Amino acid sequence: MINRLKIIKKVRETPTVFSLYFHWDAEVLPGQFVMVWVPGYSEVPMTVASREGEKCITVKVYGKTTERLGNMGEGEFLYLRGPYGKPFSSSRGKKLLIGGGSGMASLRSLIDEDSTGIIASKTSDEILFEKDFKPGMAICVTEDGSRGMKGLAPDAINNLDLTQFDTIYVCGPEMMMKAIFDMLRGKELNVEFSFERSMKCGIGLCDSCSVDGFQVCRDGPTFHIKEVENMAEFGKTRLASSGKRIYMK
Ligand code: FES
Repeated sequence: MINRLKIIKKVRETPTVFSLYFHWDAEVLPGQFVMVWVPGYSEVPMTVASREGEKCITVKVYGKTTERLGNMGEGEFLYLRGPYGKPFSSSRGKKLLIGGGSGMASLRSLIDEDSTGIIASKTSDEILFEKDFKPGMAICVTEDGSRGMKGLAPDAINNLDLTQFDTIYVCGPEMMMKAIFDMLRGKELNVEFSFERSMKCGIGLCDSCSVDGFQVCRDGPTFHIKEVENMAEFGKTRLASSGKRIYMK
């Protein structure tokens, strides 16, 4: 079923990322996604967060649909179907949330008073959702050193005792997730990744989102580190929306 939802609020989170709020009484679990459509444009997968009694999608402009969403405002309508996919296995306990780029949007529903965040971005302008964490619980990392630690998300991990966390959640560019996976694999840690892949159907029919036989839309988008160990393609190749295989650097 497609839901026609009126935008009730638009919040600019960073110069290139904004959230669109709407009323929707569906239950959406942390880690699940929806397919978002606006007339005349392709559908795109997005995660939904519940904030301030409403729900919202957080959009980073990277293509025509997201550019159109970026130009929308209060009173306009967007169309959603879902929610789809496997949620995170748990959203309780002491959590470490590692979000790179717009990846923290997929983790936003998990933020509570037991959450520590590592928020990584290229520059200080792009730090996302720092204020959603309790004061002092967000560690900012920027590539240019304009805010917090200079470096990449994995650099911040080295300074933490990871055994204090019940679960570590990771979402961001695949090369960042691969670097974190390589650091954490083989350790006695509970780690879950949220994958971002090109999706067309969102329900396990088209195979456009597959990674080594796993369909990200149906078997994911959340995967435990033990499942990721069986994905030789992870961090190496992905399918473009045209179906062409792209090699990551
Ligand atoms: S998006 Fe079609 S199978 Fe996953």
